[in-house]
Amino acid sequence: MPEFQTSPGMRDILPPESARWRKFVDVFAQVVQGAGYGQVISPLLEDLGVFQRIGDATDVVTKEMYDFVDKGGRHIALRPELTASICRAFVQHRPVTPWKIWYTGSQFRYEKPQRGRYRQFDQVGIEVLGADDPNLDVEIIALGWEFFHSLGLQQVKLLLNSLGEPADRAAYVEALKAYFEANVDALSDESKVTLQKNPLRVLDSKRPQDAALVAGAPKIAAFYSEGAAAHFAAVQAGLTSLGIPFTVESKLVRGLDYYRHTTFEYQGLTLDSAQNALGGGGRYDGLVESLGGPATAGVGFALGLDRTLLACDDESVFAPPATEVAVFVVDTTGGSEALAITTALRAVGVSADRAYENRSMKSQMKAADRSGATYAVIIGSNEVDAGTAVVRPLRAERTPDGEGTQITVPRTELIDHLRKAIS
Ligand code: HAM
Repeated sequence: MPEFQTSPGMRDILPPESARWRKFVDVFAQVVQGAGYGQVISPLLEDLGVFQRIGDATDVVTKEMYDFVDKGGRHIALRPELTASICRAFVQHRPVTPWKIWYTGSQFRYEKPQRGRYRQFDQVGIEVLGADDPNLDVEIIALGWEFFHSLGLQQVKLLLNSLGEPADRAAYVEALKAYFEANVDALSDESKVTLQKNPLRVLDSKRPQDAALVAGAPKIAAFYSEGAAAHFAAVQAGLTSLGIPFTVESKLVRGLDYYRHTTFEYQGLTLDSAQNALGGGGRYDGLVESLGGPATAGVGFALGLDRTLLACDDESVFAPPATEVAVFVVDTTGGSEALAITTALRAVGVSADRAYENRSMKSQMKAADRSGATYAVIIGSNEVDAGTAVVRPLRAERTPDGEGTQITVPRTELIDHLRKAIS
């Protein structure tokens, strides 16, 4: 075993998988930029306080943060998510509203690593600040839905809930607390602890011991104010009008504390239930204020890249893109011909690779085959003397005439010949 390996929950993403990651982000960008969202690139680190505003009743903040004091004495943290950073940026830059933005990047949470749960993981997401409109909630949910389908995923289920206005939510939390406290002896030990910190999160318990109590718990719908009920009804009507199927799940409270009104989650049906959330989000009116800004509505989602790719594997969709080059240059005269030809090919937009260290013809041809190139260009001393090059199709099925015969081409025409053959 090598002395150094990646730290637990952190991974190297190697080619060709890394090309798939890039394409994932490209597809996402295409979907959301087509809806008027612009990209924000935020720092990986923020003052710890930014993330503490997410709420002190969430494990993400209290247990899982990578935080430390830097050389200047600032207490900072690696971001565990991006919504708080985006709200911090909004307060700092005061952009025109509605501010429609998207992002991508790594997040860090000190969790117990397992398949689909990592300590460094990537997200793509969107946020809109400054618009309190149920149609926007629908737009956002629909964009996530469309994105999953652009990847080819079919086994995705949309869960929807509303946590109501802050006052509704507070009244509901009180009712839940009273209900669970009255039945506390029947709760699992873990849920007893959760109850003290955040009664809502007891609803998240997947422990069999808690199942009956959770099923019989009061439902949030009974606590909605008129405005909250109307907002939620409008979101449901909007999704229905777009033909997006959803399931109202009154136990969907989500792991972060800042949500009000709409919450939603996309579940990957092929994944293990403990890690089947492909993404989630909701409204968080109030978060900007808690970061020192004006009262501002906010809504968005983040999708887990790592986990969504596992779902793609399960459904055999969104394969890594081909990373082959078009041409591989085999030069047995020392290598400077290959340098000249690959440079000239790349300059006209034809991807090209070569071998190094003046290897034997046999070894270079092997490398050419491995590269997946459509054509090999072969240069030996005879070709140099004659001012020619041999062009050998490596994948006859890909060549324009479907034939695999090699030809000799004058050096002066080589680049143009290959450019036309490849296009
Ligand atoms: P979240 O539910 O904490 O929400 O994370 C969103 C997604 O990130 C999850 O559904 C999951 O796919 C992925 N994810 C989370 N933790 C891990 C992990 N340890 N390993 C792998 N994937 C993970 C948020 O982060 C909110 N900021 C979403 C949001 C945006 N709400 C409003 N706007």
